[in-house]
Amino acid sequence: EEVLMEQDLNAVGIALVLLLGRRAALGHCALPCYPRGLWGRLFPTTKNFSSPQSLSWALGYNSSLAVHSMEDGMLLYVCAHTAVIHDVQGSRQYHLQGHANVISCLCVSEDRRWVATADRGPDPLIIVWDAFSGIPVRTIFDSRAGCGVCAIAISRDAKCLVTISAGVVQRVCVWRWTYPNESPVCDVELSPEFGCQDFVIFNPQNPYEFVSNSKTQVIFYLWVSRTAEKPAPGCDRPLLSPQTLGSAVGHFTQSAFHFNATQVLTGTSAGKVVVWDVERKPGLPEEPQDRLHGMKAIKLVPLQEESLTVLVVLESCIVTGDVRGQVKFYNGHLQLLVCYDHSGTSPIQSISFSKAPPDPPDLLKSNCVTLFRGIRASWSDSSNSVSLTPNRNFILSTSDATVLRVATDGADFEKVMQEAKEAVVAIACHPQQAWLAMGSHCGLLKVWDYQQPQLLTSRIFPSAGIQCLSYDPAGSFLAAGFTDGSVLVLDAISLLSCCEVFRFSHGPITHICFSHDSEYLATADEKLAVTVYKRVLQNERGCWEHLAGLHSHYKPIRSILFGIQLDGSEPRLLSLGEDRQLIEYDLISSSKDQLVVVDRHRIEQDAVPLCLAWYPLFSTETFILTANSCYKMKLYNSTTKMCRKTLLGPTYGSPLEKMQILPESAAQPQKHYLAYITKDKVGLQILPVDGNPHKSSAFICHPDGVSDLAVSYDGRYIFTAGGSDRTVLKWEVNLNALEAVASLGGEDLVPFYRLLEGGQDGEFFRELEDYFYYVQLCNQGIDMLETRQVSAYIPLEEIPFVMRAIGFYPSEEEIEDMINEVKFSEYVDSGEQVTKINLEDFIKLYINHRPAFGLSMKTIRQAFQVLGYDNGNGDKVIDRGDLLSLLQCRAALMEEIPEEITAEGFTAGILGLSIAEPEKRTVK
Ligand SMILES: *[C@@H]1O[C@H](CO)[C@@H](O)[C@H](O)[C@H]1NC(C)=O
Ligand SMILES: *[C@@H]1O[C@H](CO)[C@@H](O)[C@H](O)[C@H]1NC(C)=O
Ligand SMILES: *[C@@H]1O[C@H](CO)[C@@H](O)[C@H](O)[C@H]1NC(C)=O
Ligand SMILES: *[C@@H]1O[C@H](CO)[C@@H](O)[C@H](O)[C@H]1NC(C)=O
Repeated sequence: EEVLMEQDLNAVGIALVLLLGRRAALGHCALPCYPRGLWGRLFPTTKNFSSPQSLSWALGYNSSLAVHSMEDGMLLYVCAHTAVIHDVQGSRQYHLQGHANVISCLCVSEDRRWVATADRGPDPLIIVWDAFSGIPVRTIFDSRAGCGVCAIAISRDAKCLVTISAGVVQRVCVWRWTYPNESPVCDVELSPEFGCQDFVIFNPQNPYEFVSNSKTQVIFYLWVSRTAEKPAPGCDRPLLSPQTLGSAVGHFTQSAFHFNATQVLTGTSAGKVVVWDVERKPGLPEEPQDRLHGMKAIKLVPLQEESLTVLVVLESCIVTGDVRGQVKFYNGHLQLLVCYDHSGTSPIQSISFSKAPPDPPDLLKSNCVTLFRGIRASWSDSSNSVSLTPNRNFILSTSDATVLRVATDGADFEKVMQEAKEAVVAIACHPQQAWLAMGSHCGLLKVWDYQQPQLLTSRIFPSAGIQCLSYDPAGSFLAAGFTDGSVLVLDAISLLSCCEVFRFSHGPITHICFSHDSEYLATADEKLAVTVYKRVLQNERGCWEHLAGLHSHYKPIRSILFGIQLDGSEPRLLSLGEDRQLIEYDLISSSKDQLVVVDRHRIEQDAVPLCLAWYPLFSTETFILTANSCYKMKLYNSTTKMCRKTLLGPTYGSPLEKMQILPESAAQPQKHYLAYITKDKVGLQILPVDGNPHKSSAFICHPDGVSDLAVSYDGRYIFTAGGSDRTVLKWEVNLNALEAVASLGGEDLVPFYRLLEGGQDGEFFRELEDYFYYVQLCNQGIDMLETRQVSAYIPLEEIPFVMRAIGFYPSEEEIEDMINEVKFSEYVDSGEQVTKINLEDFIKLYINHRPAFGLSMKTIRQAFQVLGYDNGNGDKVIDRGDLLSLLQCRAALMEEIPEEITAEGFTAGILGLSIAEPEKRTVK
């Protein structure tokens, strides 16, 4: 069996070499002759550009999870749903992409070749990656894991994985990932009384033994494979032996197997180490089960006062990390050998050593001394400070998101990364340079050169979190809005404050932006106020001064937007709120403490508008573009604010939260694109928007939610900030791929026909045609005897009737929008109103205006809740008379309507609709 598995692993390796051989001319090198230091370097060097946006850099990481050292200067960590192999010296990153949920745990094999990751959320996955090439060599869909995995470990021989699921009843599974089996080779459910088991580790010398612990319980396991000789029932359940101790020891943190293989050590929050071992009964032959059930806490070794956070066994040393940031090395008897202390370090989250030297010493024979060089004093002489250095550099990660490298030759702590330790919600791109500013709720502001990539400057604001950022159009200033309502204008290069702090807002600043000429700076805050600052000249450099503020909205402000007046160069300012108000301010007439409103428009009835942008100029008419909660994008005449077009927007599970027009590229000045974020995705849309779903693409970027979007000045990159996941991702834009995807969707009307039920050959289309021609007949007069004029058009006034005939019931306002849309479609060019519509345009109009996901039963039930009364059977019903007057309906309906009408009866019986439930549908 062992031999077989060895071959399996090699087969995987060899298959990979074959795969890679074609991509990156690897020559004929077989697996064993890979030189050291290949982690990530066999990733395909030429990117596969079939995707419109691809991840090119990840900033920040999840500091609650371990950071692993693949080799000196090469780190492995988790960034939202991606595992990152980061070559710090070489300034390169390799991404392991495949999870759709945030990764919840990871582990790496002893030789650093295999990385296993698991996630938490709907449809959780466990993925084993080849760290050389980034190829996911095995994906396990564990349907029974419920909401995902919370702990994972890999055996020393790399062939077995153990996972512990999250949830109240935890499931422990052992997987032989090199086998094709769908199911675990053994599994067991844990009773909730054992506490949340969130740490697990294999015995390095015996893959059939592992140990897990919660804060209060340590569980020892022995397992036998289902495929082994003993097929007795129950042998696929591991044996387990839970152990607990009194509260005096503190709570358990991490466990490790002692290098002499019999003992298990568990670190505690009281600075103690619990030593577990078998209680030997003399004379009895030792069976593995005896060992398991004989496990007892034989010793409690108080090491220190401070809580131990990390406990690892490295060759013949025991290494601990604690809340004060100290790392201590002990020998097998838990006698202190050396302590690394670095002032100001916060609690240690993980310790990881570079990969073992090529020929690891014989574990059992060696003692801790082999790990060190330069020993000059004897062990017993503890007062005499011994000069020791482990011969392997290591890295520490701390709970405040700092990664330190400890070079053992100098015993120096070198900061490798310092990332945000709280949510990152604000990002902004410089208008002329490849700079990205990112701000976190922890007050950390970083400016990063994303071309190199490298950190340029950073500053920490200890008193408040950064909520939004914006560069001025000239790129000399960076304005920051804070969670405490203060606003600062900083020098874009030095990050030093240029003016005093403004404190005119009473709640967190949500939006901040400059006018095109930098004359004005405007903010919106959570207390629903828009505040405007005006530029003044102070010394040589300009600064801004508070002009006026206004509580113009009564629900959260979604967007503020500067523009330019049509007839000049004066800036104009708009704001949009969830109260559905689009408000324009008169900056010229505004004076100190008085912000003048030009006009207010309620731009939606049902839907909530979510974002706002200037639409690129495709004709002589300038438009404002909005996207709403019902997946619609709307164009408004920028002067009259009249709704001129309603279009089906991207439908990727959640509506657009923010959008930004990509800067025009010099190569294709006629083409325009829109970048957007939804709840968890980043996407691109080809403009003009016309409702064709193939003109849009989207990717999961931050599964737990995206908070902000920024576009590089040249439009080549999109950045997304993940908010609570504390990361920022850089996406490379590939517009050719986007165009290719769009053209695959079909030309002209083909994509629209596909959106009709049954397509162009379906019954629905024929029905629509029939109605269309019927209306023509009626219009010419049914009884007409002359030769009929067959035309492709129907008059505009007939649009609502045909819409209703095919099952779309627009509101009066929607009808008005629809008719206006057609009526004025050529007005700007020809000065004339359109009075008729043909079938093709009608289909587009229908697709773009009808509800994106059809009528939902929920909406109808809601209406019945409001309109109806309780009929005593628990149903909300409407009286026939009421309904008829409500519907103002025609008499012909009368006979078929029952006395009382329920929501279901109304939908199915009267409207004749079949409504699919569940209501949520995702169109990709
Ligand atoms: C790129 O990936 C797609 C599928 O993801 C594949 O069909 C295509 O062949 C790949 N192209 C190259 C050049 O590898
Ligand atoms: C890091 O991962 C843990 C475990 O899944 C999760 O609970 C936590 O929310 C994550 N933190 C961040 C900042 O993503
Ligand atoms: C394991 O190591 C501990 C401490 O070094 C020692 O007390 C114990 O006897 C050892 N057990 C074996 C089986 O060597
Ligand atoms: C839209 O606004 C422009 C001015 O920008 C105006 O000339 C035009 O008549 C408006 N169009 C409609 C249809 O109202």
